[in-house]
Parts: sequence; structure tokens; C-alpha cells
Amino acid sequence: MPITTCIFDAYGTLFDVAAAARQAAAEPGHDALRDTWPALANHWRLKQLQYTWLRAITDAHTDFWKVTQNGLDWALEATELDGNAALRQRLLDLYWELQAYPEVPDMLRALKAAGKQTAILSNGSPAMLDGAVQSAGIGDVLDDVLSVESVGIFKPDARVYDLVQDRFGGLRDEVLFVSSNGWDAAGASGYGFTTAWVNRAGEPMDRLPWTPAHVLSDLTTFPQLAGA
Ligand code: LAC
Repeated sequence: MPITTCIFDAYGTLFDVAAAARQAAAEPGHDALRDTWPALANHWRLKQLQYTWLRAITDAHTDFWKVTQNGLDWALEATELDGNAALRQRLLDLYWELQAYPEVPDMLRALKAAGKQTAILSNGSPAMLDGAVQSAGIGDVLDDVLSVESVGIFKPDARVYDLVQDRFGGLRDEVLFVSSNGWDAAGASGYGFTTAWVNRAGEPMDRLPWTPAHVLSDLTTFPQLAGA
């Protein structure tokens, strides 16, 4: 099936989720982060995601901003940085202006030039996604930004992936869905999308019932994959 629609996960896929901790560590007054920022970023991301899965299966939805703060608070305590309120606030502020990976703007421009439909489909709340899209300057090459808040449950619930067809129509396998999160790429494969996993960190494949159709090391060659 020709690909008509390219759908992007946001955090970790278009936007560098480690950028907040890395950037804060480089700022004056944040010496405590110099050695611990990678551990902090890792704990923060893992707890944030675990809380989304746990809230989805227990029917206890809250928005992504809340689980992002909860994950950070766990990570700050685990790295013994929990007494530093100014650092906490700085890290949260930086999360609203995460850097996009360098290849992202050109990649999206190439898809639009080839007539593909493009959108984000993310756990992020609409306001968070708006902040990230604006600071990355990619609003003009996205047709839409779809948030799980429309359905009130996190990925990989099928109701989230349904948002793509509600918005763009077409067949599931005409959608090329890309995520850096192996479990998200797997979930979208099980749903019936054509999928690509961006494995930037060289991680092992998730042991789940579904596997992505394609594996990329970054998004540079994504337009070719989409037939652009
Ligand atoms: C998202 C998370 C899963 O953007 O990265 O949906």
C-alpha cells in the first residue's frame, strides 16, 4: 500500500527528552547535575512512561504534564536532588521547549513537498505539544497535532491510534507510524499501521507480540521509507 499519512510520536522521536537534564547540567549553579544528569534523565523518562501504562490499565487517567512531574519527583529523589526546588522548576520549564533532533525539520519538509499528510500523535497534553512544536519551529510542516487528551487514555490503547483515522481517513496500512519507543511502535504494528522504530540508542527489540516493519537509526531516511 502506498503511504499517504506519516504519523510521529513526539517525545523521544521528534523531541529529545534528555535535552532538559543535559541543558540544565550545563547551566551555572547546577553543578550537582554534572555527573548525574544522564541517570536523572533516564529515571525521569522511565517513571513517566511507567505511570502512563499504570494509569491506563487502572482507569486512572491524568494528563501527561502530571505524570511528567510525578516522574521527575521520583527521579530527583532517586538521585538525591529532591531538596532543590529551583532545579526542579528549571527542569520542568525546559520540558516545554525541548530541542527537536537536528534532522527533523528537513525530514518533515521533504514529506510535505511530496504531498504526504503529517501529524504528531502523542501522550502529551495539547499545551505541552504546542510548546514543543513552537520552540522547534515545525508547526508549518505538520497538518495536525493529535493528543491522547481527546480520548482520555494513554498509548498503546487502540482508542489513541483510532484518532489518526478519525482525522485523516484511509486504510491503517497506508499510515506510516514512527516512534522511538519500541513498545509504541509495537502497539501501532498490532493495531495495523505500517510502522518504523527509530532506535537511536541501539536498544534490543522489545519482546512483544508485534514487531515494527522497519528499524531506523535516526529519521534522515524516513522520507524514502514513506515513498517521498
Ligand atoms: C509520546 C510519548 C510516548 O509522545 O513519547 O506519546
